Amino acid sequence: MQAVKITEKVYWVGAIDWNIRDFHGYSTKRGTTYNAYLVLGEKPTLIDTVKKEFYGEMMARIKSVIDPKKIKIIISNHSEMDHSGALPQAVAAIEPEEVYVSAMGMKDITAQFHQELKLKTVKTGDKIDVGGDTISFVEARMLHWPDSMFSYLEKENVLFTNDVFGMHYATSKLFDDENEERMWLYEAEKYYANIVLPYSDIVLRFLDQVKKMGLAPRIIAPDHGFVWRKDPAKIVNLYAKWAAQAPKNKAVIVYDTMWGSTEKMAVQIADALREGGTEVKQLSMHACHRSDIATELLDASALIVGSPVLNSGIFPSLADVLCYLKGLRKKGLVGATFGSYGWSPAPIDELGKMLETMGVQVVAPAVKSLFVPDETVLKNCRELGLTVSKEVAKKLQ
Ligand code: FEO
Repeated sequence: MQAVKITEKVYWVGAIDWNIRDFHGYSTKRGTTYNAYLVLGEKPTLIDTVKKEFYGEMMARIKSVIDPKKIKIIISNHSEMDHSGALPQAVAAIEPEEVYVSAMGMKDITAQFHQELKLKTVKTGDKIDVGGDTISFVEARMLHWPDSMFSYLEKENVLFTNDVFGMHYATSKLFDDENEERMWLYEAEKYYANIVLPYSDIVLRFLDQVKKMGLAPRIIAPDHGFVWRKDPAKIVNLYAKWAAQAPKNKAVIVYDTMWGSTEKMAVQIADALREGGTEVKQLSMHACHRSDIATELLDASALIVGSPVLNSGIFPSLADVLCYLKGLRKKGLVGATFGSYGWSPAPIDELGKMLETMGVQVVAPAVKSLFVPDETVLKNCRELGLTVSKEVAKKLQ
């Protein structure tokens, strides 16, 4: 296992997780990386660690450059366990003089490991001498946890951003200029839609704050995916675009079906949206993962949800995805609901209330079909699609 040189003083010593497919409920079809970085100098410094299962891989990469015992400082920018999981083992093996964390990082890591880890808190503006260079800290609260923090290696002009500007994308090519955009762009968008989206207002304020601080890093080194050395502005600009959540002429239909009735309704609604000039994604819960639906919703202006009634409630797969999407707090959506039932249509009305609790503006009455939809129901589905299309058009004016 070899480290990868980034600059004269900075090495990647992380791990590649080629086979992870479920990252706490997020489908990671292309795996991920857990990036850790070694800064050489009079006080060798390790920035972040890796998921605990990859401790051996990280240590082997460190050993390819220096004796781990020579590391004097560890910085933990974020306490989620894909980055802090190997911290206790690393501290035990390396015996650093100090481990720097944010104040919330101190609280989180203490509650996770319940052991002495030589933690010392730092805050925005604090600087530490790493021997020949200086690392300054910028707290990035709620990007995406309260403890999140950036570390900036001043002379080398490298910004270590932890989760921010990353993506779940396993690659043996460490740099942006080595990876093809057609392969990674969806993964970057998916990562934003599923992890960063709820904090979009904070993203916009934070990008502004970083600009005012005069930080213009030549390299951005996140903890997932690859390192941005050729064009770090690219991912910053993508974040600014995604955070703005500008409306687009696009609707997402999410539905499930038991015997095909709700699907027949979805097909008519989708076709009417297209007739109205709106791009549509018709996504069945049989075929789609919740995290891919969240990704499709990132640039959409409408969310239309359809469910059959099962045991006097909505279909469980719809409850799953709506619970997930509610947490992601996508802004500016209009919506509508539809579904089939056998006894009581009340759960389909509940769907509309669920959309409203998500902040979706419901713009049409629910279309409900007693068992298999007849011509009248299908006509009402088309009306629903055309109504939503018109409402989306209004948002774009
Ligand atoms: Fe990659 Fe919030 O952990």
